[in-house]
Amino acid sequence: MFVSLEGVDGSGKSTQARLLAEALGPETVTIREPGGTEAAERIRGLLADPELPLEPLAELLLFLAARADLTERVIRPALEAGRDVVADRFSDSSVAYQGAARGLGVGEVISLCDRATDGLWPDLTLLLKLDPEDSIGRAVGEDRFEAEGLLLQQTVAAAYDEIAQISDRMVPVDATGSVEQVHQRVMAAVEAHRGQPA
Ligand code: TYD
Repeated sequence: MFVSLEGVDGSGKSTQARLLAEALGPETVTIREPGGTEAAERIRGLLADPELPLEPLAELLLFLAARADLTERVIRPALEAGRDVVADRFSDSSVAYQGAARGLGVGEVISLCDRATDGLWPDLTLLLKLDPEDSIGRAVGEDRFEAEGLLLQQTVAAAYDEIAQISDRMVPVDATGSVEQVHQRVMAAVEAHRGQPA
């Protein structure tokens, strides 16, 4: 099973991805986007620098380059070996941040993500829902997106809601409350997905 976690910056994805991976067992592969291969970690360094000017299309292509490498080298081999993969962000982040917030176009970015991953999309995507007003206070550090503040996060949140409405794969999860409460909701969504006929 391939599960991704999505949400605005500071929505608690990374903690929940770790707890989910622990619950799924020691064979689970956890990945963090952008990153997860040597090349992708270097690209992450470029993207994280708020001082580095970058055109929106160039920004998108860097995310996609990192993802293409990660998908072929890590995710597909793990899935083929029968392991579960938990991703802290995947293609939906590009759709929400670059497609919607940066204005490159949602449909266009979906097509480019599909190309970069050779058609691999998660089986299940958990959208951690937290008001951007609350999440921005929780986000640690300042990357190029967090530095742009509330308006960007609100656009991203609205884009995620739209994707969730049109996609059977994306399940909204209430991300308010304690880490343990959110983890219980995450596990309930995973169990519900597993109970569905393939
Ligand atoms: P991340 O390290 O997951 O940040 P956080 O843990 O604060 O949520 O992601 C870094 C930033 O990159 C985040 O602001 C979202 C952004 N991003 C995109 O804009 N497009 C993408 O395709 C991905 C994967 C991330």
